[in-house]
Amino acid sequence: MKKLIVPGDKSITQRFLILAGLAEGKSLLKGALASTDCLSTADTLQQLGVQITNEPDKDEFTILGSGLQGFRNPSRDLDFQNSGTGARLMLGVLSAQLMLRDVVITGDKSLVKRPMDRVVQPLRRSGAQIDYIENRGVLPISITGKKLVPIIHKSSVPSAQVKSALLLASLVSGQSVIVSEPSQSRDHTERILAASGVKIREELSEGRWEVEIDVTPGKLSPFEVDIPGDFSSAAFFVGYAMLGGAGNGLVIEDVGLNPTRTGLLDVLARMGAKIEISEKSGSYWGEPLGSIEIASIELKGTEIQGEEVPYMIDEFPLLAILGSRAVGVTKIRGAKELRFKESDRIRALVDNMRTIGLEIEEFEDGLEILGTEKPLKGRVYSHGDHRIAMAFGILAALPGNEIEIEGMEVADVSFPGFWKILSELKKDSTKNG
Ligand code: S3P
Repeated sequence: MKKLIVPGDKSITQRFLILAGLAEGKSLLKGALASTDCLSTADTLQQLGVQITNEPDKDEFTILGSGLQGFRNPSRDLDFQNSGTGARLMLGVLSAQLMLRDVVITGDKSLVKRPMDRVVQPLRRSGAQIDYIENRGVLPISITGKKLVPIIHKSSVPSAQVKSALLLASLVSGQSVIVSEPSQSRDHTERILAASGVKIREELSEGRWEVEIDVTPGKLSPFEVDIPGDFSSAAFFVGYAMLGGAGNGLVIEDVGLNPTRTGLLDVLARMGAKIEISEKSGSYWGEPLGSIEIASIELKGTEIQGEEVPYMIDEFPLLAILGSRAVGVTKIRGAKELRFKESDRIRALVDNMRTIGLEIEEFEDGLEILGTEKPLKGRVYSHGDHRIAMAFGILAALPGNEIEIEGMEVADVSFPGFWKILSELKKDSTKNG
């Protein structure tokens, strides 16, 4: 059976880069993701005076942190390129760094369209000085560090970026921030902080998920850490193997199995998937990891509703692709957040799928797709969105389909090497089949 290792987790790498920049002393991140998103966060940290070394194409970062209040004013705008996580988390950090004056945060043409008010509004309520430079609600933004005051924030959508930005503002300012979300979003920030000795309070309160840093630590110790493979990257090959692309099966090793990320596995089980999970013993900075073994199987359509959405928020492009090859209809609802990702993912999926001959219906908060075995043909567009490009890459690699993808290179945002792994798996399965 073919074995595979995917690159380090993007969310975890981003958080360790930022937290190591805020720590006192030298951190070492191994197995980290050196994708364009993480490199843009590393670059902005360097602009702020953090010393970082990362050899090109290597998955190790050495970081000499500046301390919780040690960033210096950068000499140019901080460009987060495509990275919503980098920009939003750093908004929280920079708001509370007292030395900073008129620091400008910007991004590429996708990032400057994404909503920032969800982070800016609660930060402003806590006393942050944040100004929109061109258009209300979007980047570019200017920040001047301020003394913050305690707040309680009730967020209308589950969002780990909002939650983490506010927790980081609390960490840097030393002030209490209580974040309440409709249901729990991914909890990497909480796990890392807890594993480094920071006391976190988390509980279900009146049907909402509530989190705060219970006792702000005043300083952070550096990290030495091995980062697990990214479940969201592995998911593409889980899908490919289920659709028969990896011959007689596939094992993906050392993947992060944090339950706030692996919701796709429950949905796939309902679709009939045969997947075996072996968790490694122990935890790695609070993060579980292990291997995923996948056999090819005929899938049946399923229905995904609101409460499952946060646990698989990044996997919908792939799920739609699996739905297009399942028996019957796959219904995705309660997923309006997909419209605010690197692209409007509902629109990008619907347009592309219609182009290649699929039957798909669009809703404000989701889509419904009818599975088919017929060959699919046509040219699809990534819309500058890595997960759209990779999802259609999986469909394009299946025998019988003739799909061309415009903007394939955008996969580098989260998964450098994706196309090489895909073409090797494809070659192997054609040889063996
Ligand atoms: C992320 C949180 C999610 C996810 C994104 C990464 C993170 O976004 O879609 O890819 O690392 O915190 P939201 O916070 O907008 O849900």
